[in-house]
Parts: sequence; structure tokens; C-alpha cells
Amino acid sequence: MAMKDAIMNFELRSLDLDGAATHKADALVVLVAQSHKTGMGVLPDLVAAALKAGDLETKCGKMLALYKIPGVMCRRVVLVSCEAGTPKQVRQAVVAAVGALKSAGLKKLAICMPDQADGAMVRSAVMAAADASYIYTTSKSKPEPRTLDQVTVGVTDVAVCQSEFDHATAAVRGVEFAKEWANRPANYATPAMLADAAKELAKLPRIKCEVLGPKQVAKLGMGSFMAVAKGSEEELRFIVLRYDGAAKAEAPTVLVGKGITFDTGGISLKPAAEMDEMKFDMSGAASVLGVFRALAELKPAVNVVGLIPSCENMPDGRAVKPGDVVTSMSGQTIEILNTDAEGRLVLCDALTYAERLQPRAVVDIATLTGACVIALGGVRSGMFASADDLADALHAAGEKSMDLCWRMPLDEEYGEGLKTSFADVANVAGRPGGAITAAKFLQRFADKFPWAHLDIAGTAWKGGAAKGATGRPVPLLLEYLAAQAGQPPVATAGKAVARSRRKS
Ligand code: BES
Ligand code: MN
Ligand code: ZN
Repeated sequence: MAMKDAIMNFELRSLDLDGAATHKADALVVLVAQSHKTGMGVLPDLVAAALKAGDLETKCGKMLALYKIPGVMCRRVVLVSCEAGTPKQVRQAVVAAVGALKSAGLKKLAICMPDQADGAMVRSAVMAAADASYIYTTSKSKPEPRTLDQVTVGVTDVAVCQSEFDHATAAVRGVEFAKEWANRPANYATPAMLADAAKELAKLPRIKCEVLGPKQVAKLGMGSFMAVAKGSEEELRFIVLRYDGAAKAEAPTVLVGKGITFDTGGISLKPAAEMDEMKFDMSGAASVLGVFRALAELKPAVNVVGLIPSCENMPDGRAVKPGDVVTSMSGQTIEILNTDAEGRLVLCDALTYAERLQPRAVVDIATLTGACVIALGGVRSGMFASADDLADALHAAGEKSMDLCWRMPLDEEYGEGLKTSFADVANVAGRPGGAITAAKFLQRFADKFPWAHLDIAGTAWKGGAAKGATGRPVPLLLEYLAAQAGQPPVATAGKAVARSRRKS
């Protein structure tokens, strides 16, 4: 299951607007900021004239397309306004320009950033160019090829932008890996195939992978996870990925990704409309795989463990039934009142497994509830955390990477609906506050470490005509992990930490 690396190459180079005239590419995108200063040369003159005449409107995303300008090497030139040049405006401008050029079959694209562009603007331009040119190909017999393979980002000061540029190119690899796996239909992304993708990742530097099957999972006592998998012909997999970027004694951050490769709802069957979208129910798992792909590129000095409980949720003669009580790895018994609330059932055993890793923090990522889609829509992921510093760090990482989240509450009272006479806990409460009661369920299994939960049900994919995975929250997670590399290490219990800063 090796992924065809139809991936773009990015290059950061010193290029001002005048110098861009002699740059060779199939197309040149010139970002024009409000603060645009007139300069000498063909392109500066042209931009000044277009602005003066009002032919290039200054509203963000407005464009002026030009062709075969004398003295300019690129045949196609698109001027695009980015107003104040905030990262968000840069994103909007680049998406508009790359969208306008997409059908032209261009291979090499140059983006000339405004004068004095900083790292944040460059990061945004790189992410946006990748996003706007992404094409899914795996299950197409005659895929529309992604022709764009080289993007040059021109800035006046390379040194100022280099580290953010490197972060962005790593993030792009991760996002595209996550999109690829999330987009695949369930018959192209079974639990075993996800495990193989993880094993492929382990060929990259500093990454290791271990895959557990049904027997090993049974031995661990993951009765809750096994209950979900029971109705499917596809065998479950429990994937353990490690990225070793720091000293052994340094406590890892653990990422847990929901890996339901298809969610029919089980015996509590979902309605037919849009059920196909439940192939995206392993987007949390895909984001964990994507983060590891990006870590191999960025190589930050942190330790990370990825846990992916993966199976299908199917109705069957052997499927778990509403009212069945199962025993989780933690020993807590769970009454499964609704088999469609399966995400929390696979995650709770993975959270218990995480205890043995003595983590500095555990973050689970899951397309967990339709209620979260109602609460926050597709703009921000729901974020729940048992510790304020972890919540603050995740929130900040979301803002910086433009992969937003919003903290949600975890008051005791929200857990009351999970009480039952027949087990320690039920897997569902009523409809009110559904995203929160799901988080309260998970919290019962996450009391041994700082814990956060990202409900990405609204943000992991887009429905409708432009249906497809977004690769979120890979940028948020990568930013969070990279920020940790700059902080004092946390030791695993009983071990001293001497952080080794490895090269390569
Ligand atoms: N995978 C779904 C959540 C989901 C639904 C994500 C729609 C995106 C769009 C999850 O397994 C689920 O079915 N949750 C139920 C929980 C309910 C039974 C308490 C839901 O949200 O309806
Ligand atoms: Mn479900
Ligand atoms: Zn689900």
C-alpha cells in the first residue's frame, strides 16, 4: 500500500517583484498587499498601474490575469490582492489564484510574496497552494493527474522565513497523507490496510510501528474495542506508532486516533442518506498517520506515540446488541445502549493502554459526534481538556496553524446521564449536549494523565459537491508538538531526562 508520492516540491528563494520578471515558471502569482510600494521594473510598474486604474481591486482575493507581458519570463501572470497580508488573507489570495490557474495544467508555479513577508505569511501560502491543488486519485481508473509539482515561494528575506517554510512543507506532507487515507473508500482502507500504511511509515527515520491483531487485543482485555469489531468480517487492528525524536527517558505525547473504517451504526443502524460519508470515520486515525509522516520530515526533539484502534462497525448476527454489557480494559463495565456510539468504545480501551506509556499528555482525535457538527459546524474542532495548560497549548497551536479549535466544558453534571443500573457506565446519555456527554464518557478512562479530546466530526471532511477530507487537525497537532520541542522535557516516572538534540 505504498502511496504514490505525487507530491509537490516547494522551494523558498530570494525574489523581489522586479526579480520575479526573470524567474522561469509556467505561471507567476503576485500577491499585492495594501502597503504595496512602487518600485523599479516591469512588474512593479505594472502593479502600480493596475492599482491606479482600479483594474486590480484591492479587496482580498480579487485578481487580474495577464498574458505574455514583454520583459516577463512567465507566460501567465496573476496579480492577486491580499489586503493587509495577514496569514488568513494570504490563504484566501493563494487559494483564489491557484484555483484560477488549476485547469491550465501548469507544472511549475512561482508565488511572489509581498515585500517584507514574514514566516507566518509564507507558511500560509505554502499550505494554501498545496490545499488548492490537491487531487484524489487512488480509486480512479483514469485519474486527472496533478500536474503542479514545483512551487517556488519568493520572498525578500529568506532567513526570516526559513523555519516556518520548513514547518509548512512538513505539514503539507502530513496533511496530504491524512487526506489520502481519509478519502479512500472503506474497501480501499480496511483496518489491515491502515496497519500496512503505518508499517510503511516505519520505514522513515525515527519511526517504529507495531501492529496488534485480534488475539493480542483479546489478551490485553480490550473488551470494549472487541465488542465494536464483532459484527464485521474485517479483522480489527490496534496500531502503535512511535516517533523517537528525544531522549528515551523523555515522556511521550500520545495521540489516539479513532479508526472506524466504516460506521454503519451497527445494530443501531444509521439511515441511508449520506451514510457513505461514514468512510471518513477513520479521519482521526488518518490524522495520526499524517502527523507521523510530518514528524519524519520536521524531526522535532520530542517523543510521540500514536495509538489507532481500528475496525468496522457493522450489523450482523454476531454483532454486539443494544443492552449488551462489556468489560473494558480498565475493568469498568459498559452498557452499550446504542451501538452507533462506537467511537468512544474503541477509544476508551486505547486510553487505558496509553497509561503504560507514562505520557506527558494524551490527545485523542475522533469524528465522535454529530452533536459537535451542530455545535461548531465546520470551522472549529471541539476541544475538551482535563488540564488548562494543555487546553491553552492546543488552542494556541490551532490559531497559529489556522486549524482552529474551541474549548468545550466538562462539568460533572454532564456525566450524570451516563448512569445505568446494569453496568458501571452507559455509552450514551440523552441528545442534549451530545458532544460533551461523549467527552465525559472518555474522561472516565483518562484520569491517569493530562488528557484532551478533539471532536473533529465537523472539520475532518467537507460534504456536498466538494466532498473530501481536509487533513485536519494535522496542522494543529504538528504545531502543538513542534512547540513542545522548545519546552523543558518531562521525564517518564522514575527516569532522569537528558535531552539529546540529534542532527539529521
Ligand atoms: N461517527 C459518528 C459521528 C458522526 C456523525 C460524525 C455524523 C460526523 C457526522 C459516531 O460514531 C456516531 O454515530 N455518533 C452518534 C452518537 C449517538 C448515538 C449518541 C451520533 O452523533 O449520532
Ligand atoms: Mn457511530
Ligand atoms: Zn463513528
